[in-house]
Amino acid sequence: MRKPILAGNWKMNKTVAEAAALVTAMREGLVAIPGVEKVLCPPFMAIPEVARLVAGTEIRVGAQDMYWEPSGAYTGEVSPVMVKEFCDYVIIGHSERREHFGETDATVNRKIKAAFAHGLTPIVCVGESLALRREGRTETWVSDQVKAALEGLSAEQVASLVIAYEPIWAIGTGLAATAEEAERVCGQVVRATVAELYGAAVAEAVRIQYGGSVKASNIAELMRQPNIDGALVGGASLSAEEFVAIVRYSAEAKGLA
Ligand code: PGA
Repeated sequence: MRKPILAGNWKMNKTVAEAAALVTAMREGLVAIPGVEKVLCPPFMAIPEVARLVAGTEIRVGAQDMYWEPSGAYTGEVSPVMVKEFCDYVIIGHSERREHFGETDATVNRKIKAAFAHGLTPIVCVGESLALRREGRTETWVSDQVKAALEGLSAEQVASLVIAYEPIWAIGTGLAATAEEAERVCGQVVRATVAELYGAAVAEAVRIQYGGSVKASNIAELMRQPNIDGALVGGASLSAEEFVAIVRYSAEAKGLA
């Protein structure tokens, strides 16, 4: 049985004071929900404060990105050693990083390896653009992204990571994939690709999230799908009430609450 995992990706939102207020508003509500892993991914500046505020609870903290070198002359970058001081998770290869900051399958793969080398669990993002979808290339694109991301990883590493399937056309648009569509790609493409590369046991263990316009009103149907183990939530994770509801409905949909 895979433990569901709900992660809030705050993107470039919230000052330290605002982040503290948001965590304080959602902390009790999140802690009360059984059986589901909860991860908050604030911007770097707010990570220490958020980590301090959730210390002693089962809420985990994640970074939204990092560099792969442990230290050195890399102006502006944040290293895995620094992330590990506060975080258990790190989002790698979000489509916004790929689109605006030149991330490639190769840099994504290096960052995933660096995450494992430093005891962090990567949340690896994959997903197709609207153009690729219209051309009917979703399956090959997503499968190729998964293969490139996992290149050179051990079976044990792959079994422990999280893959977020986030169709780019669904991110921040209010147009979430239907539960059937999300289930099909998460199961028949992402999990099937892991099975092809690492076998059935590893594919059964890997946790797969859906991301893209997840809200309290659509999460239950998504989470009722057998191959969807959680969600990576952007905009809706900036509201304490909405994010707590998303986590609660997820637990209920999986029969845990
Ligand atoms: P969204 O973002 O929930 O605002 O669509 C999801 C994401 O980019 O992780």
